[in-house]
Amino acid sequence: MADETTAADIVAQLEALEREAQAQLAVCAAEADLSDWRTTFLGRSGKVTQLLRGLGGLPKEERPRVGQLANTVKGRLAGALEAQQALLKRGQHADTLKSEALDVTLPGDPVRLGQLHPTTQVLNAILGVFERMGFQVVEGPEVEWDHYNFAMLNIPSDHPARDMWDTFYVDADATKNFGSMLLRTHTSPVQIRVMENTPPPVRIVAPGRVYRNEATDASHEAIFYQVEGLAVDERTNMGDLKGVLTAFARDLFGVNTRVRFNCSYFPFVEPGAEVSISCHVCGGNGCRVCKQTGWLEILGCGMVHPNVLEAVNYDPARYSGFAFGMGVERIAMLKYGIDDIRYFYNNDIRFLQQFR
Ligand code: FA5
Repeated sequence: MADETTAADIVAQLEALEREAQAQLAVCAAEADLSDWRTTFLGRSGKVTQLLRGLGGLPKEERPRVGQLANTVKGRLAGALEAQQALLKRGQHADTLKSEALDVTLPGDPVRLGQLHPTTQVLNAILGVFERMGFQVVEGPEVEWDHYNFAMLNIPSDHPARDMWDTFYVDADATKNFGSMLLRTHTSPVQIRVMENTPPPVRIVAPGRVYRNEATDASHEAIFYQVEGLAVDERTNMGDLKGVLTAFARDLFGVNTRVRFNCSYFPFVEPGAEVSISCHVCGGNGCRVCKQTGWLEILGCGMVHPNVLEAVNYDPARYSGFAFGMGVERIAMLKYGIDDIRYFYNNDIRFLQQFR
C-alpha cells in the first residue's frame, strides 16, 4: 500500500528530527529557550512522541528495532539537552565572575583614623613619667562630698580658701556626715581617700576631671583635668619633693629645663610652693608665652599638712609626705605653645588633628 508508513520512513524521519533538534538546541541561549525546546521535541505531545505514535502502523516484527532506535534518539536528545544546560550555566557563571570581578591591585580607600585627644596624650605622658618613678595610678569620684573636697583637706566650712574653689553643688542640703555633695574642684580629695584606706608608705598619682564655677578665659576652663601626686613615708622631706618634681619637669620639657620653687599657700600643705619652669620657648630670656618673665608656672605643691595626716590617722610625728597638683591642659599649652585653653574643648577638628 502506497500510504502505508514503512520502517525506513520512520527511521528517516527520526534521523531528520534529531538533526533538526540538535541544530535548534545549539542556538538555545537562555533557560527559557531550553524549556521551549524540551516541550517541542521531548514533551508529551512533542515531535518525537508524535513520531513514535506511528510505530503502531509498522509490521509487528519491525516495531522493536525501530522502537529501540527511537529510544536511543530520545536518550541522545535528553543528554544533549543536559549538556547544553551545563554549558549555559558555565557561561552565566563566567559572566557573573566578569561583572563582579575585583581588581585586588587597586589601592584601597584611605581609612580615616582617629587619634587620642591632646589632653589624653599629655595626661598619658605625665602619668608615664611618674609611673617610671614608682608611683601608682589611682582614681577617685568626680561627684564628691564636701568632707573629702574641703573638710579633710584642712579647709573648714568658714575657711576663706573656699572662695578660690567655688563649684557646682549637686545636693547642697545633703546632711550626711560628709556634708554637701558637689563636683570636685581639684583631685586632692583622692589623697584623703587613698590615705584612709592604705597604711603608709603611699606613692600615688591621681588623674581626673575637675570642675569650678569659673568665668572662662584664655587660661581658665570650668571643666579641666588635673593630676594629683602624693608620697608619704618616714623621713620624706622637701628635698624629695624638689627632686621628684625637677626630674618630672626635665623628663617632660627637656633635660636643660630649670625649675623654680616659690612660696605659696594651700591649706593642706605646709610649707607650700608653686613650681615654675624656665620658658622653653625663649630659653628664659622673656617672650610672649612667659609674659616676659622667663618662667612658666606648672603646678602647686608642698609638704602634707600635719592636720591632714592626723585626720587620716597617720602619725605626723612618724610620717611625713609631699603632695602636688597640676593642670593637664596648662601643661599641654606650655608643651605645644597653645595660647588659648578654650581650643581644647570646642571640637574644632582643625585644632585636634594637629596632635597626631
Ligand atoms: C589646686 O587645685 C591644688 N589642689 C593643687 C595642690 C595639690 C597644691 C597638692 C598642693 C598640694 P590650684 O587651684 O592652683 O591648686 O590648681 C592647680 C593647677 O590646676 C593650676 O596650677 C593650673 O595648672 C590648673 N588650673 C587651675 N584652675 C584652672 C582653670 N580654671 N582652668 C584650667 N586649669 C586650671
